[in-house]
Amino acid sequence: GSSSQCKCSPVDPCWPSNQKWSSLNQTVGGRLQRVIPPGAVCYDSFNGIPTADPAKCAAVASQWTNSTWMADQATIPMTTHFSNNTCEPNLAGGGGPPAGCPNQCLQGFLSPYVILAENANHIKAGVNFAQQNNLRIVIRNTGHDFMGRSSGWGALVINTHRLNSIQFDSKRLSDGHTGGTVKVGAGVMFQDVYPKAWARNLDVLGGECPTVGMAGGFVQGGGQGPLSGIYGVGSDQAVSFDVVLANGDLVTANDKKNSDLFWALKGGGMGTFGIVTSATFKTYPTVPVVGMTLIIADQGDKFWEGVRIWYTQASKYTEKGMYHWYSMADGFLQVQPMVAPNLTVAEFNAVINPLLAQLTAANVSYTASPVQSFPKFGDLYEAMWEKTHWASGASIYWGGRMVSQRDVRERGDDIVAAYRAMSDKYPGQVLFGGHLVNPGNKVKDPQQKISAVHPVWRDTADIEVFLYLPPPCQNAEQRAETERRVTYELSSLLRDATPNSAVYPNEGDINEPNWQSAFWGSVYPKVLKIKKKYDPKDVFWAKASTGSEGWAVRDDLKLCK
Ligand SMILES: Cc1cc2nc3c(=O)[nH]c(=O)nc-3n(C[C@H](O)[C@H](O)[C@H](O)COP(=O)(O)OP(=O)(O)OC[C@H]3O[C@@H](n4cnc5c(N)ncnc54)[C@H](O)[C@@H]3O)c2cc1C
Ligand SMILES: *[C@@H]1O[C@H](CO)[C@@H](O)[C@H](O)[C@H]1NC(C)=O
Ligand SMILES: *[C@@H]1O[C@H](CO)[C@@H](O)[C@H](O)[C@H]1NC(C)=O
Ligand SMILES: *[C@@H]1O[C@H](CO)[C@@H](O)[C@H](O)[C@H]1NC(C)=O
Ligand SMILES: *[C@@H]1O[C@H](CO)[C@@H](O)[C@H](O)[C@H]1NC(C)=O
Ligand SMILES: *[C@@H]1O[C@H](CO)[C@@H](O)[C@H](O)[C@H]1NC(C)=O
Repeated sequence: GSSSQCKCSPVDPCWPSNQKWSSLNQTVGGRLQRVIPPGAVCYDSFNGIPTADPAKCAAVASQWTNSTWMADQATIPMTTHFSNNTCEPNLAGGGGPPAGCPNQCLQGFLSPYVILAENANHIKAGVNFAQQNNLRIVIRNTGHDFMGRSSGWGALVINTHRLNSIQFDSKRLSDGHTGGTVKVGAGVMFQDVYPKAWARNLDVLGGECPTVGMAGGFVQGGGQGPLSGIYGVGSDQAVSFDVVLANGDLVTANDKKNSDLFWALKGGGMGTFGIVTSATFKTYPTVPVVGMTLIIADQGDKFWEGVRIWYTQASKYTEKGMYHWYSMADGFLQVQPMVAPNLTVAEFNAVINPLLAQLTAANVSYTASPVQSFPKFGDLYEAMWEKTHWASGASIYWGGRMVSQRDVRERGDDIVAAYRAMSDKYPGQVLFGGHLVNPGNKVKDPQQKISAVHPVWRDTADIEVFLYLPPPCQNAEQRAETERRVTYELSSLLRDATPNSAVYPNEGDINEPNWQSAFWGSVYPKVLKIKKKYDPKDVFWAKASTGSEGWAVRDDLKLCK
């Protein structure tokens, strides 16, 4: 198509002059930066600028898998193939690229400019500049998005991670809610809020990973966590948003003002309705929790029989409000931990002892930790959580499925067989992680009035991801082959086994076919209408997010319609 059909990119004549960029820089108080990837210090040069610095390179290599450090970076994505794996440090040390990869630090798929915003005015300035100059915008908070929506070539990145205010308010909401609220800036992560809430004997509903943002992709894509079995979807917790719209206006969206936008921001699409500058969420008085770790380590048929026994009873756990956080590979299932909010040890044992008895009867090798009781969730989180899965900086291709209670009930054995078939397809390259939890256990919302999420969220048994690990530094053809395997060989096995299920828009395959219905189901037409109302010119765009279908990133990396 003609250039007017594309967002203006750095290789186009329409790209803003240095003078324009510097005037934007003044507007944002010097917070505009040219992107130089942190790993450039491990290479001779970047864009002709000498960059090598062995001491700094060692520091970058040592922090690469630290997700707090990664969240602080200006633009690089935590899942590194979304930058074309560019300028990666060799984690084995000694500088330079990972073994066998080209010794060149290129722009890759990274943006040229980023605003490290510290307040709503910086965000407004960025939106206005991008809008006036027809630039692609990428919104980047923690960079956790393993579907790649928080990075992109040729864009102006608006980084929200430095908006870090946290304000608790003990005043009760009027709707019968028993707790107060907490208002957080767009950059706040769960690890910033959790300890503050726990110290006040409060809980907030967050994810299992401490470095995910509270007000960004999590709530706009739905959000789920260890307390979802009693408090619902992450987005159900929001009571207000402040948001910069496509026209540069900063507005409040809650149940009184801009209520359609409020609803859409609760799970209806990430990075597409506007840029959230702050959000307010419910808090709850803490409840006691019980936890246990279960490991099944066995081989072949016996391993998968153990998985089947555990998995097909998901409803027994979820109907009690439980949550099981698990990781799995052929021969090894680790549920660390099971979380049972507000259950007694006796109530927990009544559900779990029959499971353990069945595993024993089937002669499956497993270990169960002692059942532990804690006065509040925070104590369990600090004592029991499996933390090694929080590492950043890997090149993983992700897929996932939100498996419904109905599918587990009607075809649980087939689902476990599909996991096994996926694992067997590329031995050693396919791993699984997930959460047995039903966010609809207590919060039903049959008409989707509270949150703009797929109805399957309220009838979920397992929110699952799988990881496909490709060889390092792939070229474009190898990359395409990897994507094909994920979408059409691996995901398809799971899709076929779960016809009444959905996909969590934050934890799935970015190339999911018919993503509109897989991610949002029957609410999609309504959220799309709201997108068109608030952003008629598509100032905001994120792949496979609401309203993105008219545009695509071409092979030349330009975003065009
Ligand atoms: C290790 C790990 C564990 C996870 N665990 C959980 C879990 O337990 N539960 C769960 O529900 N999810 C979990 N997730 C998924 C997580 O919720 C998503 O990756 C989410 O999109 C991250 O949001 P972010 O704002 O932190 O990250 P980013 O990658 O910076 O942003 C994600 C998306 O949100 C958009 N966005 C960010 N900020 C804003 C804003 N202020 N306004 C508008 N759009 C914005 C971005 O453009 C992008 O599309 C996990 C992810 C990882 C990597
Ligand atoms: C913006 O201004 C700051 C402070 O003067 C400067 O350090 C930075 O390099 C400028 N950014 C660009 C892109 O020139
Ligand atoms: C991880 O990064 C954060 C932020 O840079 C830093 O404060 C912390 O010390 C790092 N942790 C480790 C183990 O290096
Ligand atoms: C991406 O990486 C591959 C492999 O290193 C390389 O061939 C290709 O040119 C890179 N593309 C960009 C845009 O940097
Ligand atoms: C916790 O359990 C008690 C006793 O069963 C019940 O009254 C209370 O409502 C529960 N609280 C929550 C938050 O589920
Ligand atoms: C149970 O499994 C072990 C190996 O894990 C095997 O040696 C033993 O024969 C099995 N017993 C039965 C009764 O199947």
